[in-house]
Amino acid sequence: MREKTDLMDNVVNLAKRRGFVFPGSEIYGGLANSWDYGPLGVELKNNIKKLWWKMFVQEREDVVGVDGAVIMNPRVWEASGHLKEFSDPLVECKKCHMRYRADQLGDKCENCGSKDFTQARQFNMMFKTNLGPVEHTPPIPPFKGGEREGVFLGGGVVYLRPETAQTMFTDFKQILETSRMKLPFGVAQIGRSFRNEITPGNFIFRTREFEIMEIEYFIHEKDWKKQFEHWLAEQKKWIKACGIDEKKVEYVEIPDGERAHYSKRTVDTEFRYPFGQKELYGLAYRTDFDLRNHEQASGKNLKYKDPVSSEEFLPHVIEPTWGVERTVLAVLLSAYEEVKGGRTTTTEAVKEEEIVLRLPKELAPVKIAVLPLSRKEELIKPSVKILHDLQQHWMCQYDETGSIGKRYRRQDEIGTPFCVTVDFDSLEDKKVTVRDRDTMKQDRIKIAELVDYFKDKYA
Ligand code: GAP
Repeated sequence: MREKTDLMDNVVNLAKRRGFVFPGSEIYGGLANSWDYGPLGVELKNNIKKLWWKMFVQEREDVVGVDGAVIMNPRVWEASGHLKEFSDPLVECKKCHMRYRADQLGDKCENCGSKDFTQARQFNMMFKTNLGPVEHTPPIPPFKGGEREGVFLGGGVVYLRPETAQTMFTDFKQILETSRMKLPFGVAQIGRSFRNEITPGNFIFRTREFEIMEIEYFIHEKDWKKQFEHWLAEQKKWIKACGIDEKKVEYVEIPDGERAHYSKRTVDTEFRYPFGQKELYGLAYRTDFDLRNHEQASGKNLKYKDPVSSEEFLPHVIEPTWGVERTVLAVLLSAYEEVKGGRTTTTEAVKEEEIVLRLPKELAPVKIAVLPLSRKEELIKPSVKILHDLQQHWMCQYDETGSIGKRYRRQDEIGTPFCVTVDFDSLEDKKVTVRDRDTMKQDRIKIAELVDYFKDKYA
């Protein structure tokens, strides 16, 4: 157990110390469970999103992308069922007023030890805000035929989206017409979502704002089982591509009564985090639930017309979904390695314990570090020239301070796959040493061929 806690502590410490993730608003004492991504964190996040977009949009003919608004017409959330169903059971300690999710409650209050709680009530997790400069803008005209008419429309109340999926349903017809896609096809989106979680925590695992990468894959109903299996296999491929430890991953069938209100079948990808096995990703069969409800609520025809048979019908939907921050966490936990006794070569200093972040090359925040062996002007000049040439293609770092062993350690710790060392021989033979993070093998490469060498490595 101690070892497990250590892994979490070590990853959180590394994340803070090296600028992956900082506590948010820290100069004001922070804001509970809000996190900022630093210079390396933003690179890692961007690389995750880039890899995802490449795998699931760029490399597929049957998926197109969108980028929808965070604030949508509130009717969307009525039709989608989120106003009624997107809630968790909340209880409050009668003594100290701490609030808990009823389904995660122990036998007593964690704060004061009291066992006296209120009855559970449903707490809707959508963040509310107001549209326009005053809180009481004229109400949005009532919505014809909705059974909950008038419940939420007064006062210009709007919601921050709790999932990105709804854009893909509300814009279904426009996407179809402009992209000329034929069934089966998917629409992908990466975007920020907001949930007023009752119990956020475990570092970046559960927060109140986070990014989702998701696909609504529109199909004919008869194909749903086949397509569900296809997307489960794609999610398994993604785990591998990210270097997430497959031994810690389980695919869990979510039983009746525990699935989201729109899902007929759900398989969660769960990961064994140091704090327990919990959801990493989800895969749901949303049937035609969303398109049907939006068609009914908006009065607009959202049917698909088969170009061959002319049959008109509402497509069904398979939805694979991935959280960006949970990916960051699972990737860091999987990549983190402490090498006891240090990793040594003849040129590298011995240390008792060294950290290596074995990130896949595509995800590493820094792809290449350029290190002049000495701070002498004659080495700095060609090193900076090499840096500028490589920066045209990859995110690089330049480091001239400390011993070369120390500088290798610094790069290993942030997962940089390659270091380029410029030494005095480089001035004569016009070659540099390229060191590989994992094998620690050193290759002597011609400066003139360096870009091609790395193009091959990063192909
Ligand atoms: N459209 C489907 C949907 O939103 P979800 O399982 O509720 O499904 C998608 O959320 C993914 O977003 C999850 O699999 C998880 O990776 C991530 N996620 C959900 N809630 C989160 C939170 N509070 N903090 C960080 N990530 C979260």
